[in-house]
Amino acid sequence: MTGPSIRLARPDDLPQILDVLRAALGETPLLRRTPELWRWKHVENPFGPSLVLVAEADGRVVGVRAFMRWELETPDGDTLRCVRAVDTATHPDYLRRGIFRRLTESAIEYARDEGVDLVFNTPNAKSGAGYLKMGWRTVARLGVIVRWRTGRVAPLDSDTVPRLDDHVAAVDPLDPLPPARRGHGLRTPRRDAYLHWRFSQHPTARYGAVRFGSGTAVVRPNVRAGRRELVVSDVLGDATAGLFREVAKRNRSRYVATWFSPAAPERRIARRALYAPVPGLRTLTLVARPLRSLPVDVFDLGNWDLAVSDLELL
Ligand SMILES: CC(C)(COP(=O)(O)OP(=O)(O)OC[C@H]1O[C@@H](n2cnc3c(N)ncnc32)[C@H](O)[C@@H]1OP(=O)(O)O)[C@@H](O)C(=O)NCCC(=O)NCCS
Repeated sequence: MTGPSIRLARPDDLPQILDVLRAALGETPLLRRTPELWRWKHVENPFGPSLVLVAEADGRVVGVRAFMRWELETPDGDTLRCVRAVDTATHPDYLRRGIFRRLTESAIEYARDEGVDLVFNTPNAKSGAGYLKMGWRTVARLGVIVRWRTGRVAPLDSDTVPRLDDHVAAVDPLDPLPPARRGHGLRTPRRDAYLHWRFSQHPTARYGAVRFGSGTAVVRPNVRAGRRELVVSDVLGDATAGLFREVAKRNRSRYVATWFSPAAPERRIARRALYAPVPGLRTLTLVARPLRSLPVDVFDLGNWDLAVSDLELL
């Protein structure tokens, strides 16, 4: 075996990249590692094409590392150029040989040379320790806010891909496109191109809309641990307790799940509509690594204005 070499990915690497991701991470009915999903995330993203590196050994791709381009705006209107450390995998035959570390450190060097300000991501249990060893720090462990439904709920086969029209009519959440509110912390700018990419052009996730007054809740059905749930991914336009109550009324699952960071006004408003944090439940860990000195403390969750849609990429 020759030692792995690290290089920028080429378009013709895609089949091998997907093979490595499938071998390392597997697939579920809700998450298929298709070329379409890869292209949506890493080629069509309105913030720009991803920085993708591969490791090659024995004449094949054995590791992959993708940094998605992103932007966050500060409340003062400054834009931070970001990357999100998302898809990363080492083929199971090549683990614990430093491939993830070498790929990630090379990607950081490329990002730094390009003037990227900040890296952030929500690693899983397998990669979390590796990031912390490489200089990332934890911002916070994030939970879920839930409103329970009383009464009977249809039983569910956990392999079933949930259907949007079980809950809401398939209306386009972006028609009409509500005005974006200002940020109360680091916030993804919700420009038209971003909203269309995020909610209308996703190759697998189907988003619907629940409207109330001049607010739109962007929702998607999901299955978590064999349980059917309706997720409020984002709120566009005016968030009101009436809007969150309207979502709960339309829901056909055991509960509605959402999450907003403490700086987001939607969190307070959802609480008024009886959405409550689930004690002790932590689903994601937000980690970050600034690549230069920044005008805001990114390790204080109070400085982030986030919704579910900013973190998950479903
Ligand atoms: C996570 C993953 C990419 C690590 O790949 P790898 O090439 O084996 O990692 P490395 O050999 O470069 O290890 C880098 C550091 O992380 C640590 N590390 C790697 N795997 C670890 C594990 N399972 N538990 C604890 N630490 C681990 C290593 O100790 C190493 O630190 P060191 O250099 O000080 O020893 C690999 O396990 C994988 O592909 N997992 C499945 C896919 C996945 O979960 N991807 C992340 C989410 S997209």
